[in-house]
Amino acid sequence: MLYIGIDLGTSAVKLLLMDGEGEIKNIVSKEYPLEFPQPGWSQQNPEDWKQAVLEGIPELLAGFDASQVAGIGAGGQMHGLVVLDREGKVIRPAILWNDGRTARQVDWLNNVVGREKLSKLTANIAFAGFTAPKLLWMRENEPDLFAKIDKIMLPKDYINYILTGVHCTDYSDTSGMLLLDVARKCWSKEMLELCGISEEQMPRLFESYEKVGTLKPEIARELGLPENVVVCAGAGDNAAAAVGTGTVGEGACNISLGTSGTIFISSEKFGVDPNNALHAFAHADGHYHLMGCMLSAASCNKWLMEDIFKTSDYAGEQKDITPGKLGNNHVYFLPYLMGERSPINDTNARGTFAGMTMDTTRSDLTQAVLEGVAFAIRDSFEVARTLGIDIRRSKICGGGAKSPLWKTIMANVLNIQLDVPESEQGPGMGGAMLAMVACGLYPSVAGACARLVRTAETVTPDPDLAARYEARYRQFKAIYPALKDVFTAMNGGQP
Ligand code: XUL
Repeated sequence: MLYIGIDLGTSAVKLLLMDGEGEIKNIVSKEYPLEFPQPGWSQQNPEDWKQAVLEGIPELLAGFDASQVAGIGAGGQMHGLVVLDREGKVIRPAILWNDGRTARQVDWLNNVVGREKLSKLTANIAFAGFTAPKLLWMRENEPDLFAKIDKIMLPKDYINYILTGVHCTDYSDTSGMLLLDVARKCWSKEMLELCGISEEQMPRLFESYEKVGTLKPEIARELGLPENVVVCAGAGDNAAAAVGTGTVGEGACNISLGTSGTIFISSEKFGVDPNNALHAFAHADGHYHLMGCMLSAASCNKWLMEDIFKTSDYAGEQKDITPGKLGNNHVYFLPYLMGERSPINDTNARGTFAGMTMDTTRSDLTQAVLEGVAFAIRDSFEVARTLGIDIRRSKICGGGAKSPLWKTIMANVLNIQLDVPESEQGPGMGGAMLAMVACGLYPSVAGACARLVRTAETVTPDPDLAARYEARYRQFKAIYPALKDVFTAMNGGQP
């Protein structure tokens, strides 16, 4: 049988066709636009996602026997607020995970409602990208549209709704709404009330690997698929990527270098970071995880290459960064192009180059960007260390993991071993694997991982280089605190 994995990302949807033994048969990618209507705002039209998926699936299936497709599973960009009216029409563009417009609402939630109460109710505090502050923003700024809301959901839930007609979601993705009682896996009545919404507007909750329904007959016809194709609840993209890289069980770790950069630490038991710097979320395997998320990772490199250097030759731009240059760059980059979430939680922070001199070259800037992202990921690693979590090795996935240079920099900045899975299609592969479990092909997510995920190579740090990077990291760490107040003033003095 065949399974379709959907990775509903920020720049594109990636669709993947896989057989039950984990062999990827085909991949189709469809891009869609991303709007930045004001500095720090980030929106997308859910209709664009729908069109990309409905056009992409027939392309994915071309040349294959569509009657063999048994299941579909999606991993989607997290936290995005999707709101539908009574007729099932999208009310406004989705406000995305990297949108910073809610600084005031976040401040109210964290400082008036209070961090302690939020953490007790939801296991987390408010961050600008989370969904609850966006509902508060809509209630204050678009009261007429807010009054029309019939259904609230997350990005991949909208795709499942289009495919099946079922208003559903899963625990991993809803953990990032700040509306779920993560420990008890139910909606927090108090949080819903605070945001002025009711449980009837919320989707039905499922485990990621559970079946939510089958294809609507008209959708099955449009896609050329049988009506009995099973659709599972799916997961937030990070939990789906963790499944796709085999990151399940106590202490297993995955790093994703996508538009965002995340470290994902799987755990068998529910646990909260007492300072709430790391998110405490449900995992797609039925357990839990801690996660640090930086808002701009591979997107910083994309910005430098495409918007600034006007090139698509990423490898060419990296070829002058020879081994001797690693750990010796005196240019630093703060990767805060969309503000930052973990661990500094500052919507005012901005991208910054520091330390340039007249001999600074184009490739020094490229190197600084790759290193700056690695240093910022290290910041979340350091938080995990303070919790007694000692990570010695991790999986790595996402577009950035295609660059051998970036993997070397990551392994040495973190001073850990990095296992590179055969496929870097984390969320899409994880989505297809969740569908396999929903179809009964594997008894559990862990069972599917054990059978299907294989490591292609391991990148090992070099002690001398890791020591050089240790010194550079100390220097990097001093830059943001020195600029924090400057960033706030540059943005009008508001938190
Ligand atoms: C995680 C997060 C991002 C998005 C990217 O909390 O906001 O990783 O899920 O798609």
